Amino acid sequence: MGKVISVCNPKGGTAKTSTAVNLACSFTTVNKKVLLIDFDPQRSASVALGYEYTDVEHNIATALLDNVSVKKCITPYLKGGFDVVLSSDDLVALPSVLHSKVNAQSSLYSCLEPIINDYDYIIIDTPASLNLITQCAMCASDYIIIPVCCDIFAIDSMNTLLEKYLLLKEQGKAHCSILGIVRTLFDKEQSLSKTISHELEHSFKDLLFTTSVSYNQKISESSSAACPVLVYDKTSVGAREYLSLCGEILKKTRTSSL
Ligand SMILES: Nc1ncnc2c1ncn2[C@@H]1O[C@H](COP(=O)(O)OP(=O)(O)OP(=O)(O)O)[C@@H](O)[C@H]1O
Ligand SMILES: [Mg+2]
Repeated sequence: MGKVISVCNPKGGTAKTSTAVNLACSFTTVNKKVLLIDFDPQRSASVALGYEYTDVEHNIATALLDNVSVKKCITPYLKGGFDVVLSSDDLVALPSVLHSKVNAQSSLYSCLEPIINDYDYIIIDTPASLNLITQCAMCASDYIIIPVCCDIFAIDSMNTLLEKYLLLKEQGKAHCSILGIVRTLFDKEQSLSKTISHELEHSFKDLLFTTSVSYNQKISESSSAACPVLVYDKTSVGAREYLSLCGEILKKTRTSSL
């Protein structure tokens, strides 16, 4: 069974895109078949892999708004060894288009259903929002990963996400579980980073991944070089930490009952 994982946090700049892109790349190192879906109208994951808006005819917006089969939206990202479904700023219209539909939140799941078992893992990058786009991603997923940068707003934004997650579960719309919280942009030299990190350990215990992703210049350089850090510099601390996170995810998803 293919496993669908959304990377979510309504707070901006918590490394959702970096985590989605680098996890997709990490899974291929253990021969997993992976699809990365850029589900953000900002197109950050598409840009982070070097794609221009005009490079493909179909994307996740045409799949959902024009009923194009998702199979026609898949592009192989040869440098990373995984497939991608790119985004378009047209996706911004999705919430207003879906607004009045009864099963609005299940639209991404319906779109992906025919291809879920073609992959071991499908990773979805989501926008910094809890609007219908993110809700659709949550409802299409088996698991959610929450990247949290260790600043003072970290816990607030996570609690907002968890409230929405619980509501969608209560309403029977989402069936996913929280796979884990990953500390990102972690700076062990900063006392605030360490304090927030300890608070997260105290509050979320086993839900917190052991791996944290440190602030690493190679990750920001790789974004500018338009490739995953594993392609940009596979010996970097950032690459090694994402591989370690990938190892934890493999273990957790193997032992999970889902
Ligand atoms: N571990 C890291 N070390 C250094 N820079 C990082 C790291 N992780 C992410 N970045 C940089 O931080 C910025 C924000 O990261 P990213 O785009 O992944 O966040 P995001 O949560 O997807 O943002 P948004 O909410 O806008 O979608 C990017 O410029 C990225 O290159
Ligand atoms: Mg992003």
